[in-house]
Amino acid sequence: MTETLGDLLDRAAACGQRHIVEAAEGLDDQGRSRLAESLARVPWDDWDQLHALVVDPPAAAPPSAMRPPVACTMAQIDGDALKARGEEALHRGAVAVFTVAGGQGTRLGWNGPKGTFPATAITGKSLFQVQAERIKAAVSHYGQPVRWYIMTSDENHEDTRRFLLDNRCFGIDRTHVQLVQQGMMPAFDATSGDLLMAAPDRLALSPDGHGGAFAALDRSGAIEHMRHRGIEHISWVQIDNPLVRVLDPTFIGLHLCDVTSSGDFSSKIVGRAHAAERVGVFVQTDVGMQVVEYSDFDESQAAAVGDDGELVWRAANIAVHLLSVEFMADAAAAGTGALPWHRAHKAVGYYCPAQGDMVMPDAPNAIKLERFVFDALSRAQTPALLEVQRAEEFAPIKNASGDDSAHSSSALQMALHRDWLRQASVQVDDAAQVEISPLVAQWAEDLAGTPLPDQVSADAPFVLEHGSA
Ligand code: UD1
Repeated sequence: MTETLGDLLDRAAACGQRHIVEAAEGLDDQGRSRLAESLARVPWDDWDQLHALVVDPPAAAPPSAMRPPVACTMAQIDGDALKARGEEALHRGAVAVFTVAGGQGTRLGWNGPKGTFPATAITGKSLFQVQAERIKAAVSHYGQPVRWYIMTSDENHEDTRRFLLDNRCFGIDRTHVQLVQQGMMPAFDATSGDLLMAAPDRLALSPDGHGGAFAALDRSGAIEHMRHRGIEHISWVQIDNPLVRVLDPTFIGLHLCDVTSSGDFSSKIVGRAHAAERVGVFVQTDVGMQVVEYSDFDESQAAAVGDDGELVWRAANIAVHLLSVEFMADAAAAGTGALPWHRAHKAVGYYCPAQGDMVMPDAPNAIKLERFVFDALSRAQTPALLEVQRAEEFAPIKNASGDDSAHSSSALQMALHRDWLRQASVQVDDAAQVEISPLVAQWAEDLAGTPLPDQVSADAPFVLEHGSA
């Protein structure tokens, strides 16, 4: 039953949030209904626990007894057999793609959903277009429609919808694309633990983390939709990595059949590039596998080197997972307690009822709370890890400059594509600018049989598009 504004204000007052009650006094009917909508997003039943987490957090530390996890490498697995099993699942249409794209491009200086950011090295295709082309290639290869679920948030849902429609979903049947809107969480004042307001009629809300996906998929009916369509697993990818293989048959085969896998939650990893790389790291603990974020490692742990001269904590999370639909349904059914909240200390502009104006802090003043999908690993029986080649699968775009920027990603994309052309016996200048559409090739071997020039020089950019060769 929907609560009235009066009920919600009573709850706010009971939780010591009288500033919201005061702000409500000056509102007209529209403002009151906007405030009610905002207040309905607050998990009031969990207030005490959330408030304590904000004002009196436990010390963040990696798990005490942790060891490097066991991961399969491509050399250790029977790649052909697993690929055949994965392809069988793809021919049955049993795997959907799920892209987490609830974020904005703010960190990139981009005003819009991150998925609309120009990502490829020469033609500047958007991150959404790259994933759409990979899906389209799979549809034509496996002769089955592939459902594409995209997680959005209040911040970018409408812009994402419009962008995909304006671009005709980049050639994917629009009835096969479903946007799933994730939940929002309030921001708290870091000192008092009070809820911050974005305006007299609105709380400051932000997306509840990609771990909000389970609840969002369930709430939106997407899990039921998947079951109905015979979808048994989802391929979970982030929007920010243009090299991501959205449907990798070998990984799917490993997830489904390998002895190391219970088939409910599998992940790809790469070796961590260096001690300061800002990635999460898979670790094994007595209570299961976990991902420890770079921010939770201290410097000496992050830099620890083993007898073999390699980083001890090297299993870097590239945020590519396979999850079974039933595992996600169980996690959603477990409800609010299934995943822990993580705190992020951020600068958040807020409306101050006492001043009757906005305050724009120049230092972090707020705590945002997010859930992470990989915390569900502890619910998985035996999660499997597959180590893949960084150069082939990981070139994320996260920052405006430096590491993990559009610039570094373009360089990595071009290096990979130059390598593919060389494997196909094309002479390629080291400085040649090249881009190969996923519709032409997603793997080096896809270039076999494609008409190619003998040589690619650095004189002019070389783009291999579908139908252009
Ligand atoms: C993330 C991983 C890190 C991993 C790295 C690989 C987390 C917390 N950390 O870091 O372990 O090594 O990717 O690239 O995930 N998103 C939503 N809704 C949200 C929050 C995020 O859809 O509420 C999406 C974003 O659009 C983005 C992705 O999740 O695509 C990653 O989120 P972000 O918080 O940027 O994590 P990273 O720092 O990139």
